[in-house]
Amino acid sequence: MASFWPYLAFCLLTIVDSKVTIQRQDTAIAEVEEYIEKTKSQINQRYRLHYHVAPPVGWLNDPNGFSYYKGEYHIFYQFYPYDSVWGPMHWGHSSSPDLVNWKVLPTALVPGNEQCFSGSAVVDGDILTLMYTAHEIIDIDPYYNESQYLAFSNDGVNFQKYEGNPVLPTAPNGSPDFRDPKVWRHGDFWYVVIGSKTLDERGRVLLYRSTDLKDWEFLSILGESTGDLGYMWECPDFFELDGKYVLLMSPQGMEPEGDRYKNTFQTGYIIGSFNYDTFEFVHEVPFQEMDYGHDFYATQTIDSDGKRYVAGWFGMWEVPHPEDVDGWAGALTIIRELRLVGDRIIMKPVESIISLREQTLLDGEFQEGDVIDFEKTGEILVQGNLENKIELLLEGREGGGKVWLKWDPDVRKVVVDRGSGDVRQVEWNPLDSTSWRVFLDASSLELFCGEGEVVFSSRVYPDGGWRLTNQSPQTLNIKLYHLKRSVPV
Ligand SMILES: *[C@@H]1O[C@H](CO)[C@@H](O)[C@H](O)[C@H]1NC(C)=O
Repeated sequence: MASFWPYLAFCLLTIVDSKVTIQRQDTAIAEVEEYIEKTKSQINQRYRLHYHVAPPVGWLNDPNGFSYYKGEYHIFYQFYPYDSVWGPMHWGHSSSPDLVNWKVLPTALVPGNEQCFSGSAVVDGDILTLMYTAHEIIDIDPYYNESQYLAFSNDGVNFQKYEGNPVLPTAPNGSPDFRDPKVWRHGDFWYVVIGSKTLDERGRVLLYRSTDLKDWEFLSILGESTGDLGYMWECPDFFELDGKYVLLMSPQGMEPEGDRYKNTFQTGYIIGSFNYDTFEFVHEVPFQEMDYGHDFYATQTIDSDGKRYVAGWFGMWEVPHPEDVDGWAGALTIIRELRLVGDRIIMKPVESIISLREQTLLDGEFQEGDVIDFEKTGEILVQGNLENKIELLLEGREGGGKVWLKWDPDVRKVVVDRGSGDVRQVEWNPLDSTSWRVFLDASSLELFCGEGEVVFSSRVYPDGGWRLTNQSPQTLNIKLYHLKRSVPV
């Protein structure tokens, strides 16, 4: 009896305390939503994207929580509503029936004592569970600390942070860099991969498992830089693809090497074999970049209907984001389907994106010097003779940003050139199809070569719609569609 009253008092206090916390969180979300509602009409629409997920206002970086719950796909993203530059991280939220048409849902997570850094989502029974990194500012060097938190929802809209957080307090080696949990289910266990580093600054990926998403057991290190693969591995993902296993991650700190690794940070993958009894990942094909464009980072995948889809941040750190003066910055790429062919991943636009095609603006020969103007969106299918040069100029009808898409048959490279030496290029050996598929939005370009052996994602900022000019010394075959809007204004 003696110990009963203090215990009861403790329970009551805990209940009151958690009610207060929930209320505080609900109030904070209501404030964010009110701010978004009030601010979004002030956004300049000139570069706003018509079929890419972008923040309603403010800043976006990594995709998070890519999942399928109660009949809808969900995607979240790193979000700072109050400015169009990075700030204390929230989770923005969009959902879709088909991975193409997206609606905006209320902000899912707002910072408490912790900032809500990247993470993933899984469906546990009837509950959509988020696992994310709590990034806390502390007063000892390096002045931050990262641990893993959970949050739950039974409607896919409102989330409550778990009272027992953190569920994974520290990395095995105590590194403060311990983030971006990606959870999946296999057999009787949940597994998670988390990005981290060694104490001498080499990126690595940690593997854990759990039966309940709360108690985690450390299993193994799936990969580790030997020095040339960067000082930190962010946003890891690990999955089976066409009979092999793929470790996908975003290393920070790789040095440029010829045409490769020219962005500040990279996203790429290692192919190998994995055994769920020994937890050993045997690397078979070394690191390769996933996308060769200027703006692609921090990918996350989902397995749905036997297909593996990926979304990336259509952006990059430490580069200008020209839309930021308009009240927003950043977007996600279109969703792509992954397949493994030989020793590489090929990446194709999600099939349902053909539902965006409206009028056919051109279908047939496009001769040297031919020009066509169109609105802010388009899908272009290009067929040329690969024994000869291809050079297509895409520019704003009223000036602004421009980009050349080129094929050089002498070195067999595809080139995406934003002018002034701002070039990305890579060798292309077509598997089968020799055509290109280009997706243009109000301020973006995604180029898929052949079956998706080579893909470029680059932001480009044309003024007043697009103008396409054939500067190739050959007649091309072009099919050009106008694409309709699939995200809210
Ligand atoms: C970091 O946070 C975890 C979880 O709250 C805690 O266990 C650990 O002591 C903290 N580390 C530092 C250095 O504050």
